[in-house]
Amino acid sequence: MAEDLLLTKTTKEELYQELIPQLTALIAGENDLVANLANVAAGLKEAFGFLWVGFYLVKEDNLVLGPFQGPVACTRIPKGKGVCGTSWEKQKTLIIPDVEQFEGHIACSSLSKSEIVIPIVKNNEVVAILDVDSKELNTFDQIDEENLTQLLNEINF
Ligand code: SME
Repeated sequence: MAEDLLLTKTTKEELYQELIPQLTALIAGENDLVANLANVAAGLKEAFGFLWVGFYLVKEDNLVLGPFQGPVACTRIPKGKGVCGTSWEKQKTLIIPDVEQFEGHIACSSLSKSEIVIPIVKNNEVVAILDVDSKELNTFDQIDEENLTQLLNEINF
């Protein structure tokens, strides 16, 4: 069965609105979390060409690397460390226009210039985070936050 994405739009907002229903349909028929996270990461990478898109899953005291697309990355991030660990600790989406200005940023790739991290909360606990990195400064804004949050709400964690 062909699973190709159809991506024709040019503005960021339109591209998200074209992508999200397709990814939602793709994951709706599958209840394996790793499989679904892998396809979501791949779809975002394919649509937007981000440097790195992936998930870290909360396992005891660490975020542990999950499905991702992009260069190899650090495997464990403690709570409160880096952008990801801070997002986990604060249960808050973090948009970082320039990673060099974020104290304690963990540079998995020296090419990463800006970043958005969104925590996924279930029963008041963060169970995972989505991390998206860009090679450009100032890549992420409210449009990314709203659309990525909408997409994450479709995943059954
Ligand atoms: N930059 C992140 C680490 C994860 S990688 O970018 C994939 C951070 O500061 O938490």
